[in-house]
Amino acid sequence: MAMALFKASTIPTLIFLLLSCSLIKISETQTPPTPAAGLSYTFYQNTCPRLESIIRQNLQTVFASDIGQAAGLLRLHFHDCFVQGCDGSVLLDGSASGPSEKDAPPNLTLRAQAFVIIENLRRLVHNACGSIVSCSDITAIAARDAVVLSGGPNYSIPLGRRDGLTFATRNVTLANLPPPFANTTVILNSLSQKGFTPTDVVALSGGHTIGISHCTSFTNRLYPSRDPTMDQTFFNNLRITCPTANSTNTTFMDIRSPNVFDNRYYVDLMNRQGLFTSDQDLYTDSRTRSIVTSFAINQTLFYQNFVSAMIKMSQLSVLTGTQGEIRTNCSRRNSNDLFVLPNMENDQEGKLASF
Ligand code: HEM
Repeated sequence: MAMALFKASTIPTLIFLLLSCSLIKISETQTPPTPAAGLSYTFYQNTCPRLESIIRQNLQTVFASDIGQAAGLLRLHFHDCFVQGCDGSVLLDGSASGPSEKDAPPNLTLRAQAFVIIENLRRLVHNACGSIVSCSDITAIAARDAVVLSGGPNYSIPLGRRDGLTFATRNVTLANLPPPFANTTVILNSLSQKGFTPTDVVALSGGHTIGISHCTSFTNRLYPSRDPTMDQTFFNNLRITCPTANSTNTTFMDIRSPNVFDNRYYVDLMNRQGLFTSDQDLYTDSRTRSIVTSFAINQTLFYQNFVSAMIKMSQLSVLTGTQGEIRTNCSRRNSNDLFVLPNMENDQEGKLASF
């Protein structure tokens, strides 16, 4: 049955991969990774025991009316963690010290509603427990719940992050979030600097199994002519969705199951139906091709590696202990009268079209 999803020419590769899946790390029985210093799996056990159930219940209601918000929350956490660490900096509004991370090109396509959902969750949690839970922890839990409530794996995440006092400049934001037109070499190099292996990179890219993209993020593959690594029928349909190179339309990222957190994204790649260069090239490049195939044929393997990479991502450069603060409004630092942003830049030449 599953084989029907794959082209005949790929079957020998599949058989080889089935035999060699064990080469890819992660055993069947997993023990949770050791948390980063200052974080713990039981951080709020005594001080806010209902924290995770408050968030889970609220998001169940939110997603019941719009499951698309799950993708928005997952991406928000990724954009928080990759720029300056998981410190809630992406949530901050701009100030007199400069435009916020939100204003940087890669973040212009974050869903406005994702920020509203996080602030609503903060209010609910702080009402229940007092102002002791950080916006960065709430964002991390919301991203995990986005995965779970879309049908993906459940897992525990270490907690205890504190919120940052600064946001990154436009250029720092751009330097840390690779663009969709990047190839595998660029993506692997960029993510290896944050400690991610090629298997982590392919697993994290599986986040694109839910959500949407604007045409402008992939028109480089449609205009002036078809990227030869793109399936012809997929291309024809995308040209209808995106009739011009600067169309503001959107499309689902995983055509097989756009709202379900499953491994179909990898099946898309094997059928040359990945949306971005950064997605499709994972299957073209010999260093990552076998990892893509192994996830396409084994969803459990994908889930295991995704969870492992997400826990790693959720602990990038976290603030703990007495560092930072617990914000009482996720979009503002508590005392807004000090401007501590070290590096003010005002170069506005980036364009939405690239993201
Ligand atoms: C590896 C490099 C990555 C690149 C180049 C990339 C790029 C992009 C782009 C261009 C979009 C569409 C933006 C738009 O046009 O609206 C997008 C959407 C999305 N990305 Fe990524 N991404 C990457 C990694 C990740 C990771 C690690 C995750 C999470 C684990 C993730 C989760 C998502 C989700 C869920 C969406 C859909 C958001 C929505 O529907 O609102 N991405 N990504």
